Amino acid sequence: MRPREFLFGVTLLIIILVIWGISNNHPKMQERARNIQQNMFGLYIDGVISTDVLTPSSPKCSLSKECPIDHFAFKIVSGAADVLGPKICFDGKIVMSGVMNNAGKGLNIVFVNGSNGNIEDFNFFDMYFEEPVKLLEFLKKIKPGMLVLVASFDDPATKMNDEIRNIFVGLGSTLIKDVGFRDNWVFAGAAGIGEKSPFEKRSANDEKTNIYERWPEMVEIDGCFPRKI
Ligand SMILES: *[C@@H]1O[C@H](CO)[C@@H](O)[C@H](O)[C@H]1NC(C)=O
Repeated sequence: MRPREFLFGVTLLIIILVIWGISNNHPKMQERARNIQQNMFGLYIDGVISTDVLTPSSPKCSLSKECPIDHFAFKIVSGAADVLGPKICFDGKIVMSGVMNNAGKGLNIVFVNGSNGNIEDFNFFDMYFEEPVKLLEFLKKIKPGMLVLVASFDDPATKMNDEIRNIFVGLGSTLIKDVGFRDNWVFAGAAGIGEKSPFEKRSANDEKTNIYERWPEMVEIDGCFPRKI
């Protein structure tokens, strides 16, 4: 039964009861009619509220559990070979993905305001065919207090240079110095804290261990990023 029909039915019932009560001039009956009215509406409203409460809410970004208060949930998945695009989720929102068609080969990078969680910017940069001029311009927009999320797709390193590697080191990366041709790399760091980030993974392109012939297995990190106050 739809809510409107239900309310209509309830209202009709109450009118009948009230008229019946008045025509019988029976004060007790009128009171009972009022009670029924309150109970019915109470029940109805309770029902709406309790279904909201009972709806199971899954943790943001499909983490296995909720992040503590003052933390942002995130999940970063690299691309798979040159076929499946990467995915970057932050605070419950998928910011970039192959499915959304806003991710691409090379490096996929998201800037987040570390205090309020706003997505400040995101883009992807081809690292095989293009000179990294645009990437360097982009990275120079990083300000202290920003979180930086990175996912590789296909090849993140052919045009990588020391200037770029040093910027990632400054954001807390320890693995970037080894990231090479067709490696997979995912990283989450922060500008201006001068600490090594615990959120980083690399899988090396190695014929002996590659699972996609010419590409290594995909890598993934997730966790809870402390909010910068
Ligand atoms: C984050 O947002 C706040 C509020 O808009 C702003 O004051 C602050 O400068 C921003 N921080 C960064 C690193 O963009």
